[in-house]
Amino acid sequence: MTDSAFPSKNRILVIDDNPAIHADFRKILKGPDELSAGLDRAGAELFGETPRRVQPAGFEVDSAHSGEEGLVLVRKAQTAGSPYALAFVDVRMTRGWNGIETAARIFQSDADMQIVICTAYSDYSWEQIIEKLGHSDRLVILKKPFDTVEVLQLAHALTEKWRLALEARARMDQLEKMVAGRTQELHAANEQLKVEMAERAHAEESLRQSQKMEAVGQLAGGIAHDFNNLLTVIRGYVQYLKMEIPPKDGVKEALHEIDVAAERAATLTSQMLMFSRKKLLQPRSLDLNELVTQLGSMLHRLLGENIAMEIQTVGVPLFTHADPVMIEMVILNLALNARDAMPQGGRLLMQTAGMEIKAEDCRRNPKARPGMFASISVVDNGSGIAPEILPRIFEPFFTTKEVGKGTGLGLATVYGVVNQHGGWTEVESTVGQGATFTVFLPMLAMQPGLASSSTMKAVVVGGTETILLVEDESALRSLTRMVLQRQGYCVLEAASGAEALAVWDQQRTKIDLILTDMMMPGKVSGRELVEKILAETPDLKVVYTTGYSVDTVCPDISLSDGFNFLQKPYHPDKLIQTVRCRLDQAFPAPGQSGPAEN
Ligand SMILES: Nc1ncnc2c1ncn2[C@@H]1O[C@H](COP(=O)(O)OP(=O)(O)OP(=O)(O)O)[C@@H](O)[C@H]1O
Ligand SMILES: [Mg+2]
Repeated sequence: MTDSAFPSKNRILVIDDNPAIHADFRKILKGPDELSAGLDRAGAELFGETPRRVQPAGFEVDSAHSGEEGLVLVRKAQTAGSPYALAFVDVRMTRGWNGIETAARIFQSDADMQIVICTAYSDYSWEQIIEKLGHSDRLVILKKPFDTVEVLQLAHALTEKWRLALEARARMDQLEKMVAGRTQELHAANEQLKVEMAERAHAEESLRQSQKMEAVGQLAGGIAHDFNNLLTVIRGYVQYLKMEIPPKDGVKEALHEIDVAAERAATLTSQMLMFSRKKLLQPRSLDLNELVTQLGSMLHRLLGENIAMEIQTVGVPLFTHADPVMIEMVILNLALNARDAMPQGGRLLMQTAGMEIKAEDCRRNPKARPGMFASISVVDNGSGIAPEILPRIFEPFFTTKEVGKGTGLGLATVYGVVNQHGGWTEVESTVGQGATFTVFLPMLAMQPGLASSSTMKAVVVGGTETILLVEDESALRSLTRMVLQRQGYCVLEAASGAEALAVWDQQRTKIDLILTDMMMPGKVSGRELVEKILAETPDLKVVYTTGYSVDTVCPDISLSDGFNFLQKPYHPDKLIQTVRCRLDQAFPAPGQSGPAEN
């Protein structure tokens, strides 16, 4: 710290009722004025002495003639920012306060000022002074008559002490400020760390959760895939038996029951495929506002009288590339859950919004991605979800509902469908106050023309062409063969890709269409088989089948259900329609390319 940062240390106040004393102090503290210096010089010359060379001490000296006046000057100097460093105070003053009283007042008013009490032997004793003022390191007692050097020395020593005290305090203040600043920085860093740790823990938990869902999804998907094959066989044979036995036969009713049960089982497997992301999507560009509004009118009836439903759609269209049936199912599941959470009635709000998700928003939720997203929120004021079950609600088969009332597949389906659409789901809930589920779907920047849906013919017609049927599941293969043969087709069978190539080599001229499973064990997959054959005969027609999602199996092939693709489990009628439809297509469908054209 520089000296200029401090007030001058040279300011001294003399408080005395005797005007002559003031002149003495000035002479000592400021240095002699011109008149006295001239007199000194003349005296020296007169007595033949060398004139004294007096160095001016350079103090600024002010005078007060009473204690009261002194205190006024002290306060003024403080206010003006140029406080006194030191006061010489006479003890005995005829008017007003005596010196001790004056010193006490100054001490109260100025925390730094040094005071020299000037006293004669007959005035107060040291003990008396101390009794009045207490022990203070700012107080010095100077007995009269005093010596010039003593006064000057005291002035130098005490003003320097005053300066050092001020400087030390300023340093202390500065240090304290630095410490406070650092403490604040540390505190802020600590808070930030806490926030980041919480965010990280949250993100880790979400990641664990989604990994778990992924694993369960894969398991369920695998089971569903096998079930699909079995159900296709069961339903196919039921269909076959129904056609074979006379209409009046009582067995027909039993067969119908089997078919109904198998159909329910197929719905369940299809739900399992949905959350395990193995269901074929039929996406098109759609406005979420429109979808929510249309579905809303239907939901009114479904929710019952005692639930007030409100729909709030954002003013601009929210275009997204999605499968409308699936998204409706998502909303339906959320709305039904909301209804079940409000058995005594309540309020259900469906709200749409469009927003930009920024990179920093994604730190909390690993599923979130930056970009433009459309969202649908389903808000209820029902029972809410307890924090301990919240992490589990998306798990397949997790339900808190009574046996027979809930399968626990609703939210698992929501999770899978939304994920498959490249989006994610968020949930917030307070027990007793309700829950909010928000689904985020990627938004389309522009509104593209609506994709045309499949051009499947409604009538079931057979034919006489030859079909190479490639399927590793023998029961499914026999059923498919039987269905096709009944329609008049000639069917060549192969249980693997390699076997199919052998059949192709021998009978290629006869074959009009290949119906093949995409995923088969062995060296040659359905896809490779088709690639090899098409390399030789590019015009050959192909229909693919799979129980998986094509985007998992062959994301690069453009497939359309009922057109060049059959999603398992398939109904015999659909098999016949698709085969016929494919055989009748003279040219590849618009927009299709690659092997799938055939
Ligand atoms: N809006 C909600 N309010 C309170 N709890 C909810 C809400 N939505 C879901 N839950 C809880 O999450 C659980 C799982 O929901 P999910 O939809 O997966 O299955 P479910 O409704 O029990 O059965 P399902 O939908 O298969 O008929 C529910 O049993 C319920 O405990
Ligand atoms: Mg549900």
